Amino acid sequence: MSTRPRTPAAATPAPGKLPLPELAEMKRRGDRIVMITAYDAPAARIADEAGVELILVGDTAAMVMLGHTSTLPVTLDEMIFLTRAVTRAARRPLVVGDLPFGTYEVSDEQAVGSAIRMVKEGGADVVKLEGAGRMVSRVRAIADSNIGVMGHVGLTPQSATKLGGFKAQGRTATAAKRLLDDALALQEAGAFAVVLEAVPAAVASRVTQALEVPTIGIGAGAGTNGQVLVWHDMLGMYEGPTPRFVKRYADLSETIGDAVARYAAEVRAGTFPEDEHTYRITAEELAAFEAALES
Ligand code: KIV
Repeated sequence: MSTRPRTPAAATPAPGKLPLPELAEMKRRGDRIVMITAYDAPAARIADEAGVELILVGDTAAMVMLGHTSTLPVTLDEMIFLTRAVTRAARRPLVVGDLPFGTYEVSDEQAVGSAIRMVKEGGADVVKLEGAGRMVSRVRAIADSNIGVMGHVGLTPQSATKLGGFKAQGRTATAAKRLLDDALALQEAGAFAVVLEAVPAAVASRVTQALEVPTIGIGAGAGTNGQVLVWHDMLGMYEGPTPRFVKRYADLSETIGDAVARYAAEVRAGTFPEDEHTYRITAEELAAFEAALES
């Protein structure tokens, strides 16, 4: 008789993977949670080695990877493709697959179907979606399907047009109360964490205190349980406008640009490749080759 557990694959973490409940423990202990976006295997490997807890394959991929001017055009297939690359390299961090616009709004069934694809085909450990209101029911449906789901309130870029642009949210007493109610509703529906984006620090702190699950802030001050930044923003690899909450830890565009310009100059000058970049053939083989050419 087999003693193999009957747990579904999606519920069995890979060896070495951070257990999802550890995030709630971190909040209880007061340890801050580090999340960063990544969209390919090399970035995921670097983030893993740096010891982050969460890697978000965000729909910001639409802008920073695919050259769109908003997050709306990226498709579920494209997100799954990128998520698969990340999950191949991320061993310890939990990989959060972002559900793109149009893949969960229609119905709970659509949301569960998209979340299952993200886990099954992309290899994501958990998923994230934006918004509250009707989206609370989507979060409940996904959580009830045994897939971990992260909420996202405040500035939700997929609804930026409706919000009147990329603007900070929760800046009036009424809006702040609505934000708190939305975050509580997402928690009650089963979200294991909630992203707070572009929210006044004082409001984000109060929401964080009110929630049992961790909050992950971006442009929400230091009072949240964790922080997230977009890979290309923090490394200076995105040339479009960046919000004031972005801190640049490096300027890789300049470093990479200099390297490419030096390479181009050396190719044009004939100084690359050098001997050390070249394969050799023995004198006998070369002589035989030349003799063969002559005959
Ligand atoms: O898509 C994304 O990268 C995000 C973060 C900005 C939180 O949602």
